[in-house]
Amino acid sequence: MNDVLRTLDRIEISDREEFERAVLAGLSRTPRAIPPKYLYDARGSELFDAICELPEYYLTRTETAILTRCAAELARLAGPGCALVEFGSGSSVKTRLLLDAMHEPVAYVPIDISRQHLDATAARLRRDYPRLRVEPVCADYMVLSALPTDLGRSPRLGFFPGSTIGNLEPRDATSFLRRARTLLGDRGALVLGVDLKKDPRRLHDAYNDSAGVTAAFTLNLLRRMNRELGATFDLGGFAHDASYDPLEGRIEIYFRSLRPQTATVAGRTFSFAEGERVHTEFSYKYDEAGIAALARSAGFTIDKTWTDPDRLFAVVYLEAAPGN
Ligand code: TRP
Repeated sequence: MNDVLRTLDRIEISDREEFERAVLAGLSRTPRAIPPKYLYDARGSELFDAICELPEYYLTRTETAILTRCAAELARLAGPGCALVEFGSGSSVKTRLLLDAMHEPVAYVPIDISRQHLDATAARLRRDYPRLRVEPVCADYMVLSALPTDLGRSPRLGFFPGSTIGNLEPRDATSFLRRARTLLGDRGALVLGVDLKKDPRRLHDAYNDSAGVTAAFTLNLLRRMNRELGATFDLGGFAHDASYDPLEGRIEIYFRSLRPQTATVAGRTFSFAEGERVHTEFSYKYDEAGIAALARSAGFTIDKTWTDPDRLFAVVYLEAAPGN
């Protein structure tokens, strides 16, 4: 028992150290940036769930409607006896649409960076799907190259919804998909949700909701730095800043300093000019040609694409391309 506690302790300490290193490095760089995965502590994951319910944030609602409509066909394409592997499972709400449609799924492997979220979600799924093997993996799927769990010879169906692929720079999106391709195997397939290019106004509003939940999500990162790293950010001194760059085809998200100020992190003091921004995340938007190019670059072919009537969002079924 003591050993277990010591191990847990060590893990927590090393997580904290990793966070501290990432923040110090990110604030020392020009332009400043903090990796997006740190947005998702327990509170961040909760706020993100709230974002998904916002009227302006059409992505979740639209993707859910598409999945509801295409789940039976996805299940048919995947075939019986699959293991479902989800990258960044969050609350696994959309997962249930797939699990309910799949023919005798043998296992569900949710991968998520938030331990609390992962455990709570796994417990709920085990309760609701008593015959399903649920094997949660607490990891950063960006660096995971093999699954720590034995899925035998079951074909693997990957699930990467929510346009999370859009939060990766195109080069990283390709390398992630390549790794997913390896992890899922030659008989593997991947269900990918992608937000489509559209009216910039609509995109802007989705990341600047009137209730301020998205702003709270961004600013939670400052709160987390204060709490976990003893940083001294003045939460009222920074604002959420998100805008669409049509040339890059991406929403760019920052926190912005509202006045000249300093903040101390781990004994180091950083100055922020008025208007200076610290990058937290991109959200790339694709068109169908872009999705096809991305899939091809990673050794997949698109078997089928579904969209909503307004073409806001796409769900694609990718299969391992032969000879890749
Ligand atoms: N993948 C989603 C998106 O790009 C989720 C997301 C990531 C998000 N970071 C965000 C949503 C920040 C709102 C604000 O939309």
